[in-house]
Amino acid sequence: MNKLKNILLIITGGIAAYKSLELIRRLKDQNINVTCILTKSGSEFITPLSVSSLSGNHVYSDLFNLTDENKMGHIELSRAADLILIAPATTNIISKMAYGSCDDLASTVLMATNKPVYIVPAMNVRMWHNPATQRNIQTLVEDGVKFIGPDKGDMACGEYGLGRMSETQEIIDTILEHETSLLKQPLKMFSALVTAGPTRELIDPVRYISNKSSGKQGYAIAESLHHMGARTTLITGPTNIPLPIGPTIIKVNTAEEMLNATEALLPVDIAICAAAVSDYKANHGINEKIKKNGENITIDLTENPDILKRIGKRNSSRPSLVIGFAAETSDLLKNANYKLTAKGCDWILANDVSDGKIFGDDNNKIEFITKHSSHSWEKMSKEKVAEKLSKNIINYFTS
Ligand SMILES: Cc1cc2nc3c(=O)[nH]c(=O)nc-3n(C[C@H](O)[C@H](O)[C@H](O)COP(=O)(O)O)c2cc1C
Repeated sequence: MNKLKNILLIITGGIAAYKSLELIRRLKDQNINVTCILTKSGSEFITPLSVSSLSGNHVYSDLFNLTDENKMGHIELSRAADLILIAPATTNIISKMAYGSCDDLASTVLMATNKPVYIVPAMNVRMWHNPATQRNIQTLVEDGVKFIGPDKGDMACGEYGLGRMSETQEIIDTILEHETSLLKQPLKMFSALVTAGPTRELIDPVRYISNKSSGKQGYAIAESLHHMGARTTLITGPTNIPLPIGPTIIKVNTAEEMLNATEALLPVDIAICAAAVSDYKANHGINEKIKKNGENITIDLTENPDILKRIGKRNSSRPSLVIGFAAETSDLLKNANYKLTAKGCDWILANDVSDGKIFGDDNNKIEFITKHSSHSWEKMSKEKVAEKLSKNIINYFTS
């Protein structure tokens, strides 16, 4: 069953623009609602009247149309679409996208969207092979934009080669296939890092300070994000449980190592700091074993870097979604809300560890706190917490 309901089709000014009329009809055969933007140049090749007659919808062209923009049309058009298809896509629109220009409605919508974008290029063979075009395509591929075609063959200009717009059926098959796999793996376009477990801070070569974190919750989250399609890396402190299969694993010991591994992974879309990072480390050399001498000793401790805060407060390469955990023994909501702001997080999953049961337990009881709301989740397994969190993440990125 096709779950793709709404496509925003951008038709740009190429000789293949007439093929977009057939494309609209075939998309509608699939019960897909098609809304079109026709660029100014596009309307030199086909008329807005034929586009609106076939799509059954108003055709958008002008960025400064008062009726459309009074509802912030350029944002609304992207919001209403499940994906954006540019067919045919001119050399010009490809170049504008690669450079982030937005000087008309089509390019402004493309800058303002977070939806999947598919480009169907159609141009003269030399325009296609031009190094500038190839550079722009490379940039867009790295940005996650997908290309369909072009095909090789005879061109309207009488030349032969790569640059023909792909056939209608191929375009439809490609987007339906991609989108079906996206529905199964809704975070396929996203990257995530998860920290988990305790850290260990040596106080001499054989002893350390650590905590009771088992790593279970972080591992379950990494596994769930991996199943949802996210390119997931788990940075884990020392634990005694099996590593999840799927995510890339980085093993660390100290908070400093965890921070370095975390920062080296940026940029990512999602950062979830579930590790119980030691707040302190020894403030002395650790090469010599501390000897027993019949007297009390004092260990001088210094603060470790705050990994969550370092990520949440970054000016550059800050993940779009930074999620922290707060294990509190008193004033759960007050402390967790303070942590949300102080550490620059988007969400906090807070749990009450006053009875010492959460660490190592298979279940968790979460207060889910965002900048605007808080919800009490019922007690559930750590796997279920991971699934519920993943669903919230999917909603955050797709609604
Ligand atoms: C007759 C004619 C045919 C054209 N065909 C193409 C084409 O197939 N592909 C292309 O990239 N540009 C083509 N162009 C150039 C584009 O129309 C031009 O770059 C325009 O600025 C594109 O604007 P747009 O990207 O906003 O639609 C053609 C121009 C003319 C006059």
